[in-house]
Amino acid sequence: MTATFDPAPFLARRQRLQETMAQGVAVIPTAPEQVRNRDAHFPFRSDSYFHYLSGFPEPEAVIVLVAGDAPKSILFCRDKDMEREIWDGYRYGPAAAKEVFAFDEAHSITELEAKLPELIANQPLLWTALGFDPAWDNRITAALNVVRGQSRAGKRAPETIRNVRAPLDAMRLVKDAFELDIMGRAARISAGAHRRAMQFIRPGRNEYEVEAELLHEFRRQGSPYPAYTSIVAAGAHACVLHYVENNGPIADGDLVLIDAGCELEGYASDITRSFPANGRFSGPQKDIYQLVLDAQYAAEQATRPGATFMAPHDAALKVLVQGLLDLKLISGTSDEALEKESYKRFYMHRTSHWLGMDVHDAGEYKDGEQWKTLQAGMVLTLEPGCYIRPGDDVPEAFWNIGVRIEDDAVVTANGCELITQDAPKTVAEIEALMQDARS
Ligand code: GLY
Ligand code: MN
Ligand code: MN
Repeated sequence: MTATFDPAPFLARRQRLQETMAQGVAVIPTAPEQVRNRDAHFPFRSDSYFHYLSGFPEPEAVIVLVAGDAPKSILFCRDKDMEREIWDGYRYGPAAAKEVFAFDEAHSITELEAKLPELIANQPLLWTALGFDPAWDNRITAALNVVRGQSRAGKRAPETIRNVRAPLDAMRLVKDAFELDIMGRAARISAGAHRRAMQFIRPGRNEYEVEAELLHEFRRQGSPYPAYTSIVAAGAHACVLHYVENNGPIADGDLVLIDAGCELEGYASDITRSFPANGRFSGPQKDIYQLVLDAQYAAEQATRPGATFMAPHDAALKVLVQGLLDLKLISGTSDEALEKESYKRFYMHRTSHWLGMDVHDAGEYKDGEQWKTLQAGMVLTLEPGCYIRPGDDVPEAFWNIGVRIEDDAVVTANGCELITQDAPKTVAEIEALMQDARS
């Protein structure tokens, strides 16, 4: 965390949550550290909800928010510890954390066990997230039981436990200006990495060499790590939706699918591009590529306030189905194909998901039985695809063509803005960039 850290957006979110809660106390821990093997850990990454409310980057920390007439925000965090800081690096400690992150109070995490029963006693509601981490459930159970044990002293445990993630999910669904600024920067870094991969790729290189270029670009632009495991899939690998081995040779004539995005300041980006290893699309590759691109254009047109979350998918699917019929990859009428879902053999996933701190971000997809209505500030991906595995009933020219085109769309007042468009996308743009890199 730099000296320029601005706690204002985080403070505003805590206040908003307190207002939504109206009463009771919320308890929100950050993520636990995870052992990788023996004494090596996975890189620490804050819990998204905790980060959203604090920006505090250290492990072993818990936020307590008291709502009602006397609202209060409290942070529990690690103590200063010179010995540990010599080995592992800086720790804020409660005094500095309180100031920098604008909490009303901060205490040592070692005091949580003793203070939590006091904080939840006589509160009508306890807001926390149960059923995700048994260790956390046990800490909450222990605190409740301490209060229940003090009933003769007039203390009462909260009668109702509410899921604190529900109001937070609703908040996270609509991004504020601070978040959109970060997501725009993350998107530009990832788009640059895709450009770099297109320029670098040659038949004869290996998928992992291309992955290294992506990682190099993320890291050199200040991203700490990818937002999800990168996919670099050449040839038949592109038809494996979650291919992550990234260790195969790239052959002349292969189409290569790259799905990769960096995380920046806690926010994900998520881009897929598909392009020919040798820099020129073959005829069948171009047919499928242009079909998926047209489907994505249709999805983009359908992404606007007032449309439902499913509108981009429905629009993309309509184009894809017609294209598959035209190419004789499926038969019948468009209505029959939609009804029987015969397209699913080639397009088996949805077109969109919410994007934010988590790559598949928080937020409901339905209100009751209805798909959510899009509103300005929501961010979703537009990622139609077409994946053609070898089969007797499929012309060989199409075998092993796997195409996905994925951009990140911010819903605006009138439509949507693709924040990932620095990554070349038309056939002409891709071929021009790749030819330039070879000349
Ligand atoms: N990269 C994950 C996804 O596209 O959903
Ligand atoms: Mn995605
Ligand atoms: Mn993706």
